[in-house]
Amino acid sequence: TRIDKGGHKHFMAKEIAEQPTVIAEALGHYLSKSDEIRLPDPAIDFSQVERITMVACGTAFLACLTAKYWFEQIARLPVEVDVASEFRYREPPIPGKSVALFVSQSGETADTLAALRYCDGKADKIVSVVNVPESSIARESDLALPIHAGVEIGVASTKAFTCQLTVLFLLALKAATDRGELSEEARQDHLAQLRRLPALMSEALEQNDAVRETARKLANARDVLFLGRGPLYPLAHEGALKLKEISYIHAEAYASGELKHGPIALIDEEVPVVVMAPRDTLFDKTVSNMQEVMARKGKVILISDRGGLSEASEGVWDTVVMPDVSDAVAPILYALPAQLLAYHTAVAKGTDVDQPRNLAKSVTVE
Ligand code: G6P
Repeated sequence: TRIDKGGHKHFMAKEIAEQPTVIAEALGHYLSKSDEIRLPDPAIDFSQVERITMVACGTAFLACLTAKYWFEQIARLPVEVDVASEFRYREPPIPGKSVALFVSQSGETADTLAALRYCDGKADKIVSVVNVPESSIARESDLALPIHAGVEIGVASTKAFTCQLTVLFLLALKAATDRGELSEEARQDHLAQLRRLPALMSEALEQNDAVRETARKLANARDVLFLGRGPLYPLAHEGALKLKEISYIHAEAYASGELKHGPIALIDEEVPVVVMAPRDTLFDKTVSNMQEVMARKGKVILISDRGGLSEASEGVWDTVVMPDVSDAVAPILYALPAQLLAYHTAVAKGTDVDQPRNLAKSVTVE
């Protein structure tokens, strides 16, 4: 099949826009009509698992960091996450009753593959979450979970990231169920949120024009800071990574609570600060960090839901409104404004969005 941009200016724009469809597709593969989570064979059982070790690179690593919150909070399962290049040479001890989980869009990233081989024979099970089912990482796993994102051309990963998150979320729910940590009611709530996700994503994408306006202002910045708490903290990293990869603006992410331990020294009227803050259980804490930024004349771009914006948008530089979503599913939805912000900033700067300088889609050499 021929791969074209489907009327979009860039593959990245097309791949961002495809997310409601590919997420629905991925859910269709993993969720039965009667809300059973169906994984491919061989069957995996998390009831006796004592630890998950997650390893990946780049955006896939940030999907792992997000999933740590789900496995720990929902399934009460301890998770270690590392980038593959550090993990493989650190030679960490791997407990026997553990699952080693590798996330890779291409399934060919050299460091991730080496990390997998290191865990083979040590961990009880090698599981991978991949977009290419014939890839080396998939073939060398006991269980490979395809994300069904379709071919991704843009070097900056977008739809593969949200599909990785969706599959990891389902895996966390499966682990929670195996371990007796999830009431039927909570399970139904999580699944209902997931089923709404494609529609919520379509709604989020309606902010495209508004985000383009915000991005036009961001294009003049030299440095940008991203802040988030809880499961939105890894997403702050993803927002910063996307922005630096394709617009070449220096961007950093911090956990909101770490602000006062260093990065606040950077804040002045020149530094835009993107705050990812749905009105979740940690919202008030994030807002107070945001006010510390504004008190130092930092220019805040607040990404939140209607309730959050009406409560906290006074004095901010700009806002992006998102639909309401559960705390757990929020990072999957909030990935979209992060992607759009990077995309439109890069377009405003005139950089090569689909082929950013010095970067490769798949890093198959060390
Ligand atoms: C490269 C790509 C990133 C990707 C990373 C990991 O750096 O530019 O978009 O996240 O590799 O790739 P993988 O195929 O293992 O997910």
